[in-house]
This record gives sequence, structure tokens and C-alpha cells, in this order.
Amino acid sequence: MNAAHKGTNPRKVLVTAGLPYSNGRLHVGHLGGAYIPADIYVRYLRLTGADVRFICGSDDHGVAIMITAEQEGKTPAEVAQHYQKLQAQDFAGMGISFDIYSGTSINPYHAKVSQDFFKAIHEKGYFEKQSSRQFYDEARAAFLPDRYVKGTCGYCGTHEQNSDQCENCGKMLDIDSLKNPKSTVSGEPATIRETVHWFLDLSRFEKEVTEWLEGADVREQTKAYVRGLLGTGLVKRAMTRDITWGIPVPLDDPDAKGKVLYVWFDAPIGYISNTYELEANRGHDVSVAEKMWRLGDDTEIVHFIGEDNTVFHCVIWIAMLTAVGTMKLPKGVIVNHYFNIQFPGKEVEKISKSRGTAIWVGDYLAAGGNPDALRYYLTAIASEKARTVFKPEDLEQRFNSELADSVGNFVNRITSFTIKHCGPNVPVFDKSLVGAVDKAFDGAMNAAFEATTQELERHSFKGALEAVMEFSRQCNRYVDEKAPWTMRKTDMEGTKVTLAYSLRAIHALGIMMLPFIPTAAEKILSAFGRDAATVSWSDAVSFDLIGGPLSQPPILFQKMGVAKA
Ligand code: 2FM
Ligand code: ZN
Repeated sequence: MNAAHKGTNPRKVLVTAGLPYSNGRLHVGHLGGAYIPADIYVRYLRLTGADVRFICGSDDHGVAIMITAEQEGKTPAEVAQHYQKLQAQDFAGMGISFDIYSGTSINPYHAKVSQDFFKAIHEKGYFEKQSSRQFYDEARAAFLPDRYVKGTCGYCGTHEQNSDQCENCGKMLDIDSLKNPKSTVSGEPATIRETVHWFLDLSRFEKEVTEWLEGADVREQTKAYVRGLLGTGLVKRAMTRDITWGIPVPLDDPDAKGKVLYVWFDAPIGYISNTYELEANRGHDVSVAEKMWRLGDDTEIVHFIGEDNTVFHCVIWIAMLTAVGTMKLPKGVIVNHYFNIQFPGKEVEKISKSRGTAIWVGDYLAAGGNPDALRYYLTAIASEKARTVFKPEDLEQRFNSELADSVGNFVNRITSFTIKHCGPNVPVFDKSLVGAVDKAFDGAMNAAFEATTQELERHSFKGALEAVMEFSRQCNRYVDEKAPWTMRKTDMEGTKVTLAYSLRAIHALGIMMLPFIPTAAEKILSAFGRDAATVSWSDAVSFDLIGGPLSQPPILFQKMGVAKA
């Protein structure tokens, strides 16, 4: 077993989930892509007693927020604050257990940490100040970075792509690879003008990026994709922009005037500044947070992101950290693919805000949707290896059959039967009556625990959930075979063995389900008088509950689509 008992695990882990742009709310694709997997990992690690920090916040700068501000008649700062609060609500409603959810325009440390980072790279001589051609809107008399320009991807031919990255093939785009560029502000064709920027030549970090990639916890298909990018050669990328909303370029140079850091430069630094803010909130000196990110410290840093963020985390961020020279590289970058969506009677399509095919977390929760149900379904269909399809009616059907009918029914039947016939304690039984079937069931519980642990350790959350659910099916088979309902009439002592073994399994399920469906799992543990905040992962198989208290837990899973009684 990898996991140590709570309180004795020396691991320090800093888990981040991609910072969403604060120009909108969250849909199910966001949740399944980065936040639920990260939360499962964090909840598991906390149960093992590891010292874990779960860091997130909104990504407030850049053109995306400026465009929304123009559309909503607000300032970018107002837009960022408005959506940051709503996002925090959506995450809290889904039980995403961040230690901090800040925002890059709210965090008091962020601007300075980002500017210091930029200056450190500048002092190392890695930036190249260059005049380059940029898209320009003649009517607006302004340069047009990133999402202010759309066009056709020169690699795959997909139309309506932002000028920095193709959503379809994931390739980074530039002034030469974006065809038929149009200003999204005026709708007119974008022209090209010269402007000065600070470039990071990513090809100088090819060796470091390659070495990191091969040794890091990165899924195989992500590695293959990044190897492909490395194979076609890395290019120079401008790390500054000609816009008004962002962090000023911190150089004493007349050419830096009016320019800000590229949003993809300051966004991942948000992971660091949010760590600073978290430690400050806890009354610690910023040096505590700073140390966790420095070379030589043994904190494991693991980033969870959606597939469209791969190049920024697995290439540019690694190059940025390497360039500073004193920063630690992440132990892992865990990438999930997009979900597609299929509404009843319709074709599979992309989850898209503009096409109205998104299911919004806020709407789901406001309609009384069960967070556990969505967490369960998004993990069961997790797009860990390739894109998968979210089918709203499957969410309901799987919740009702796999959780309510199977797990809920087993827990309810066993606890109520035990309380009725043996009283409010887990039955003490005669060990000499334990038979081969009981021993095999005990073995299955241990095997399920080992399998779940291993899958969680390798960030295979779908596999981990499958191991837990396979065990829940074994539980049902065990009681079906032992049939305590009839055995009770002739053999009460033998029945106690079955009930005690079943209750041990229920307790184990409660712990193993805590990372995935925390609300229901907490209710399971409450049946044994156990507080989810103080249990440990290894308790699943080692906690002695025989003779201990037992009560009827509240309803674990209220069936979906069925009128409440
Ligand atoms: O894709 C996005 O929503 C970006 N805002 C993710 C940023 S992740 C990190 F670098 F902050
Ligand atoms: Zn493309």
C-alpha cells in the first residue's frame, strides 16, 4: 500500500486546477475537465494524512475579459470580480474543496510576483526585444492580440479560430498561420503593423522541456502530443501585449510603456501568487509559500488542466520556470480531454456556450441537482484518454441504478435489518463461525482497497471509481448468497457474521467513496458515529468497528426524476 496512515504521511503536495477566465460561469465540461479530478485527488491525499494545498482562482487578465466587459458595458475589473464570485459559488456548490479561490486581479501579491518573475527572466537574458508584425484594427487604431482576431487555422482549416490557438487541432497560431484574419471588434479584415514586444525563444528550452516531459507524471497520450509539438520545433512567443488591461511590463524602457504581460505569462504565475495569499491567510510569512515553489523543496506540484491548456503548461510554463533558474518544475500535469454532449434524440455535438449546448453548473444546482450525482457521472465518463460524451439522461439513469438501487439499497437494507434484529451496535460475532465465503469477501474488500489506492495514485480516477463500484456489486452478491433474511430464522449467530462483514464493507465503501461523492459518503460514515473530517484512508480496511455504534443513516441517494414522497 502506498498511502500511509493519516498523521504519518510525510508527503507535501500542492495541487492546482487551471484558472478559469473570469468572463463566464462554469459548465459541466469545465468541471469534469479539471476540477472534479483534482478534487478527488486532493480529498484522497488529505485522507492519507498528506500535507495538501489545493490552489485555484480566476484568470482575470487578457482579451477574453476585455471583450466581455465591452459587451456588458462594464470595466474588465468589474467583470472579473463579478464572475470570480459566481465561479466560487459554483465550485462550492459542487463540493470542490479549494483551500483558496482567488483571482489574478484580486490577489494582492499577483502583480508583483508576476513582475518579479518577468524581471528574473529578463535579467537572465532570455527575453529578446523585437519589433514584430501584429494584427491591427485601422478603424479602432489599436493592435489586436489573441481573441481580438479570428481567422482560419492554417494547419487544419477550421474557421473562426482565435489568433493564438486553434481549438480544433490545438496548434499555437501566429500571424503567418492564421488565415483571413478579421478584427472581432470592427468585423473588418485585420491589417498588420510593426510593434515592439519581449519574446521568449522556446527552442532554447527544448532539452529541459523534453527531459521534464519524459520524467513527469503526464498521461501517455499527452506525452505523445507534446513530443509531436517538440518534433515540429518550438518558436519564439511574445510575452507582452499592446492592451490596457493586465500587469504592466516592469521594465524601465520607453518601449515598455503602455504594454502589459501576456495573459498566458501571468496566469500560471497565479498558482504561485495564490499560494502566497493562502499562506498569508493562514498567518504565515510569504517565504513559506515561496519555498514550496523553489528548487530543492520537496513539495510535489501537480497541475490539473483541460486539453486546450496543454501547450501552455507542458511547454511554455516549463520553459518559464526553467528560465528563472530557481524554480521547481511540476511533478505532474494531468490533462483531461473535452467532453462532447448528446441531448436525447440529437447528434453528438461540442459543448458550446454560443450554440447553447452547455449544461451550466449554476443552473443544475439551482434546479436542486445533486452534486454527488454529477460528480459520480463525470468521473464515470471521465475523458482521461480521449473525448467522451456527456448524455444527460445517462446521468440520471446511472445515478438511479448504480448508486440509489445498488449502493443505497444495500446500505439501507443491512443497517435497518441489523438494528432491528441485533440492536444499535455492529454485532460482535463468534470468529469460529467465519466461513470460506466470508473470508473471500474480506479478501475482495482488501483487493478493492488496494486497486482503488493504486488507481488514485496514478491519477486514474475513472479506474478508481470502477474499483469501488465493482466492490459494491460484490457486496450485493455476498448478501444475496448469505441471505441473512432467511438465515436469521434458524442461525442467529451465523447471521451476525454476515451482518458484521457487511457492515465492515459498508464502512469501507464510505471511506473509499469520500473522494468521489463526499456528501453520501459522509452519511454512510455517520451510521458508525464516524466524522469524515477525522477518518483516514487506511481506516477503510483497518478500523475495528465491531461492537461499535450503529444507526440508520439518512437517505443516501434521492432518486432523480422521481417525485419526492
Ligand atoms: O483556458 C482557460 O480558461 C485559461 N484561463 C486557463 C489558465 S490555466 C493557468 F495557467 F492559469
Ligand atoms: Zn487547427
